[in-house]
Amino acid sequence: MKRKIQTMALCLLAGVSLSHAQTFLSQNHAMKRVKTTEKYLLLPVEESEGIAHIRVLKDNRLVKEFNCKLAINKTDYQVPLDLSEFGGDLLLDIQFPGDTRTTGVIRDFACWQEMKVADNFDTTNREKYRPAYHHTPLYGWMNDPNGMFYKDGVWHLYFQYNPYGSQWENMTWGHSTSTDLTHWTYEGEAITPDALGTIFSGCCVVDKANTAGFGKDAVVAFYTSAGASQTQSMAYSTDDGKNFTKYAGNPVITSNMPDFRDPNAFWNDELGQWNLILAAGQQMNIYSSKDLKEWKYESSFGEGYGSHGGVWECPDLLRMGDKWVLVCNINPGGPFGGSATQYFVGTFDGHKFTCDSAPGVTKWMDYGKDHYATVAFDNAPDGRHIVLPWMSNWQYANQVPTRQFRSANGLPRDLGLFTYRGEYYVSVKPSPEVFVSFVAKSSAKLSPAAYLEVTDVKTNASITLSNAKGERVVMTYNGMDETFSMNRDASGLSDFSTDFKCTTVAPTYGAVKAMQIFVDHSSIEAFDADGKMAMTNLVFPSEPYDRIAAKGCKVKIHALK
Ligand code: FRU
Repeated sequence: MKRKIQTMALCLLAGVSLSHAQTFLSQNHAMKRVKTTEKYLLLPVEESEGIAHIRVLKDNRLVKEFNCKLAINKTDYQVPLDLSEFGGDLLLDIQFPGDTRTTGVIRDFACWQEMKVADNFDTTNREKYRPAYHHTPLYGWMNDPNGMFYKDGVWHLYFQYNPYGSQWENMTWGHSTSTDLTHWTYEGEAITPDALGTIFSGCCVVDKANTAGFGKDAVVAFYTSAGASQTQSMAYSTDDGKNFTKYAGNPVITSNMPDFRDPNAFWNDELGQWNLILAAGQQMNIYSSKDLKEWKYESSFGEGYGSHGGVWECPDLLRMGDKWVLVCNINPGGPFGGSATQYFVGTFDGHKFTCDSAPGVTKWMDYGKDHYATVAFDNAPDGRHIVLPWMSNWQYANQVPTRQFRSANGLPRDLGLFTYRGEYYVSVKPSPEVFVSFVAKSSAKLSPAAYLEVTDVKTNASITLSNAKGERVVMTYNGMDETFSMNRDASGLSDFSTDFKCTTVAPTYGAVKAMQIFVDHSSIEAFDADGKMAMTNLVFPSEPYDRIAAKGCKVKIHALK
């Protein structure tokens, strides 16, 4: 009996069928009228299928268009299309890919039976790999963190978001907020695609002196409009980042370069002007402005410097005392394949960045395989440089074994500088806010979401996390070589990509005495307690690791409060 009631509840959640039939106009073109008072149209998705293009028409006008892998054979999950802003009488014009299909004819596609309307969309977590204390989208795909800023006690995080599937598509800025950098609330879609293109990565600044004329303390966003070319656009918000109005003069920066994106602006106190850095092929371009609208090209940095194994993306330029750190995400070309974050330490005079190191020197911010698109919060208090990574790698991000959502952010980290053998390096420490969520445990049993406090680290030390199935992650510190490594070859599921198995190795720039290791269902982040080493890796154990074996060090387990 109990089972029957549960089944009924699930049917109700899944929505009610649409009364209007669809019209088939060819083997790959259909129209469907949607007349309803319910809030959502639930679209069935099948991830292995091709992308259907959906145009939403209201009174013969195009009001929205997007791509969605509509189910052909079976439904993997549903995504909601919010109808409330259009009113409930719409025509969907749907174009399926290709001229012919091998898997049945259009009228038999699974999507017609399973397209439903409903007033609610259930976002309750259904995934065993969803982290407990890292930011994730409630549903759908996420990549880069975008437009992060702090204002009036609230941390704002926007992100590259696909609301219509759990793989990369339809780039939109999703928005989440937090007051403690750990618990996040989803605020909805902040910036959506328009006639200039989809909305790629970018930044937000708080315009304290109203230099742009949108109002004192207006939040001004810069993003890449990804259309036929990549151009830079702006939008502003006068309600603390909830709603944005796109600037009528967009685009504000253009170029004939194909890879030209990810603008990151900041107020330059010394010169009383704005600067902006963006990725242009395998270089970073720097601009200046007095009013955020007119931008002057100043210089480019990068030729011959650092790693050039891929396209340069998502830059940041951070002042740390007399030095400046230029953050440069690169894909591919990372130290263990795929995407990674390199940086350069040098000086910046508002016009030109000059690197301190020799051109051949490459420095990585994190020596794991799942740390990318890392940039800092604007306007953080006390001069802090707090960054957030996207915790995945373009080699397999679209294939990792989750469905309801794909990808999390890494933990927030505070950046600083240290020197080793005459060179400056960026130090990376988990932000102090992270530790507040944990309490020391008396038992030695590892839980799926834990913080491991590692002390008394000897010259040779190792920590192995494992489960009853023999799946394990082996971390090794070698004080003679000054290296720390993490082997995830036998960590659990890995057959979704031949690029997943690996051992990542980091230089520790001196001895490691203590470490902080964070485990959260499908991720492990290891930090040297002095900030000289960070390593972020995904893992997909078929059941959680519940055992720890430590050699040459002591480990205290802290559980989530
Ligand atoms: C980096 C990136 C950016 C781009 C965005 C698109 O991961 O490729 O360069 O703006 O993702 O989603």
